[in-house]
Amino acid sequence: MSLTRNITATFFVFFLVNLSFFTSPSSSATDTFIYGGCSQLKFPPGSPYEMKLNSILASVVNSAMLTTYNNFTVPGSSGTADTLYGVFQCRGDLSGNDCAQCVARAISQLGTLCLDACGGALQLDGCFVKYDNATFLGVEDKTVVMKKCGPSIGYDSEGLTRRDAVLAYLGTSDGSSRPFRVSGAGNVQGVAQCVGDLSPSECQDCLSDAVGQLRAGCGTSTWGDLFLAKCYARYSEGGYHSQGHDHNDDDDDDDLDRTLAILIGIIAAVALLVVFLSYFRKYLCGDECGDEKGGK
Ligand SMILES: *[C@@H]1O[C@H](CO)[C@@H](O)[C@H](O)[C@H]1NC(C)=O
Ligand SMILES: *[C@@H]1O[C@H](CO)[C@@H](O)[C@H](O)[C@H]1NC(C)=O
Repeated sequence: MSLTRNITATFFVFFLVNLSFFTSPSSSATDTFIYGGCSQLKFPPGSPYEMKLNSILASVVNSAMLTTYNNFTVPGSSGTADTLYGVFQCRGDLSGNDCAQCVARAISQLGTLCLDACGGALQLDGCFVKYDNATFLGVEDKTVVMKKCGPSIGYDSEGLTRRDAVLAYLGTSDGSSRPFRVSGAGNVQGVAQCVGDLSPSECQDCLSDAVGQLRAGCGTSTWGDLFLAKCYARYSEGGYHSQGHDHNDDDDDDDLDRTLAILIGIIAAVALLVVFLSYFRKYLCGDECGDEKGGK
């Protein structure tokens, strides 16, 4: 009896979860994939390393509800060789729920992209997640990880002036610590972000570098993205979110998610119906029905 009740409760929760999944609006803008990479080194499945990694990733998801940046260290048993480090950084304008959702999505993608890899890093539009057993926390790293430029607008001096004004704001220190910067001039918008483990001066140095390379590399393009290992700068003409690249993958994913949700919902509904009918039948015939006792 209590088993049946547990099963009913389980399916009911399951059903509710799927219902809410249905009605929640998709936040595909923050889920857009930017880049991902894994270390060559692999850990053996089922090893203590895997357990530590899972505990770090769980901490990351929980923490993302409360803050836009955090770091984690799980010390190794035998010195520093198997110490594991993890970090996440959400875009500075994301609230708890959106940040947590983005980070959960990034971790699920890391799970497929970096299966059994000792280290992995993944950047979505709205968040960055990285883990490794080599120290990277608090280390400024200006390696170029991703660089993309949109189509050239040709030489349009007004457009270029606005673009340069936006980039200048993103790359220049005003004396305060600003790890997240947004800027706009006319129809040109820009955004820049450091990972929170950099000091204000390291962040400023990283952003100056990113902005300089973006200006030099994307010349007269309508949009440009430059991601260094610990900071990035991006600009776009006609709205930051309407760049129109990499959106198809996302729609496919959403369709798949929706199909899966419908399937699971139907299975849960049928299961609920079966449980309900068995209660109903028992209620109708009380103790008369033989097959409950018959087997025992
Ligand atoms: C990371 O872990 C792997 C596998 O256990 C090990 O071979 C490697 O030396 C470790 N790297 C560091 C920097 O500790
Ligand atoms: C890591 O997080 C702790 C608090 O959780 C903080 O005190 C420390 O400064 C952080 N380290 C870096 C490098 O950000």
